[in-house]
This record gives sequence, structure tokens and C-alpha cells, in this order.
Amino acid sequence: GSCAVVIVAAGSGQRLGFGVPKARVPLGGEPMLAHAVLGVVNAGIAAQICIAIPPGDPEMAGICADLQEQAGPGILWSVVEGGADRSESVRAALAVMAEGITTVLVHDGARPLTPSGVFERVTAALRDGARAVIPALAVVDTIKTVVPTELPATGAGVEKVSGTPPRSRLRAVQTPQGFELETLRRAHAHALTLDAAAAAQVTDDAMLVEAIGEDVYVVQGSAHSLKITTPTDLLLAEAMLQGPLR
Ligand code: C5P
Repeated sequence: GSCAVVIVAAGSGQRLGFGVPKARVPLGGEPMLAHAVLGVVNAGIAAQICIAIPPGDPEMAGICADLQEQAGPGILWSVVEGGADRSESVRAALAVMAEGITTVLVHDGARPLTPSGVFERVTAALRDGARAVIPALAVVDTIKTVVPTELPATGAGVEKVSGTPPRSRLRAVQTPQGFELETLRRAHAHALTLDAAAAAQVTDDAMLVEAIGEDVYVVQGSAHSLKITTPTDLLLAEAMLQGPLR
């Protein structure tokens, strides 16, 4: 089957605080999106690349046109306007999948340094019969769940611990997340039936696939595949790009 890669890059990047969409923030002198897209091109797995960009952002459209030229012929190229949240941006991309596409990888434009090996592990699992597969890493911190509460003496609003899942079974999840196209379409059709509160809690595509009862398989992610969210992440990515860590 033929594989499409969707790169979602329609977020505002407010947490990074650069005042421009995150995908346009420079890394090693190039827009972050350029690293992410050329990483996909170089992985050699995409018959189609579809990039979701912020609506009404001609500069980003220009960056995508340059990237298409750099990628050369042989990959079907699509650019779509993203939606109000990440799920909507994925759905905008699913609407333009080409004839003959059977599997799709959804990748964050905010993960500019994902190594080819991660793309290869995800596509290999799809080839081996998985309908959904995600790359993940073991977590180093102990993770607790919390609920809102008040301090006994003052009534000040704080949180208290409601549980500690065993760390050995927790994973930090990355992208690209890979899917049989038909399965991802069904998952996103289900997403449209969620109320606003539930929809706001959707942070990746795999959880929508979980919700329709399909197995989601896990392969090894990479420390280089970090999502750039804070200025500290950007510093780390610049250091990785310099070489010694790569
Ligand atoms: O906000 P978060 O860090 O989870 O975003 C993950 C990815 O989803 C980013 O690459 C971002 O550009 C993308 N996104 C999008 N459309 C939105 C919101 C986020 O494509 N409306």
C-alpha cells in the first residue's frame, strides 16, 4: 500500500512566545517546519505529503512551496488550512488523501528532529499488520494524577494526588503516529460525535483510535524526536542540531 504523511503545523505556538506560529520559528537558521518536512522527505516513506498550516498565512504557504521544490518530483504535495484544534487540522488533511493511499502517518510539525529510524519503525509495524502504531519512550519522572482541592486551614485552592500509576507501564508518546487510513477515518468520524469538553481533551490521534476499540501498538521513539514547546526545548534542539548529541 501507499503511505501519506500528514504534518500538522497549524498551531499558534503561544507557549514558545516567539510571536509567530511555531512552525516558522527558526532552528539552525531555517524554519522549524523545514526540518520536520525534509525529515519526512529523507525518510523515503511518503507517496504523499500533506501539510496543515494556519489559515491565512501566506508566509507559511511560501515556505511549503519552497519545500516542495527542494523535495523534487515523485511525492504528491498538498497544503491545507488547519482548524481550531489539532484534530480539526488532521481532518482537513484527511479530506485530501490521494487515490491509492492506504496508510497515513500523522506527524507534529513541532518535532523537527525526528530520526528516520522512528519513521521506519512505525511503517514497519503497519506493514506487519498493525492498524495503529505510536512511537513512545519510557518516562523518567514519577507521574501522578491530581484533583483540585483546598488546604484544610485556609481553603486555598491547591491540588492533591489521586493516584500514582506504576512508572514501568507509563510511556511518553511522540509522533509520527501511523494508521491504516480507513481506521483513522473511522476514529475521526467518532471524534465528531464528542461534546466540546471531551473534544478539548483529545491530544493525539491514537486516543481516538483507542476510543473505537482498536489496538494501538507501541514502537521505540527517540530522544531526538522531542516536541518543541518551550524556549528550553528550542535550546536543546539547537544543541542537537550542532552534532554532538546526534
Ligand atoms: O499544541 P500541541 O503542541 O499539542 O500541538 C501539536 C501539533 O499540532 C503542532 O505541530 C501544532 O502546529 C499542531 N496543531 C495544528 N492545528 C491546531 C493546533 C495544533 O496543526 N489548531
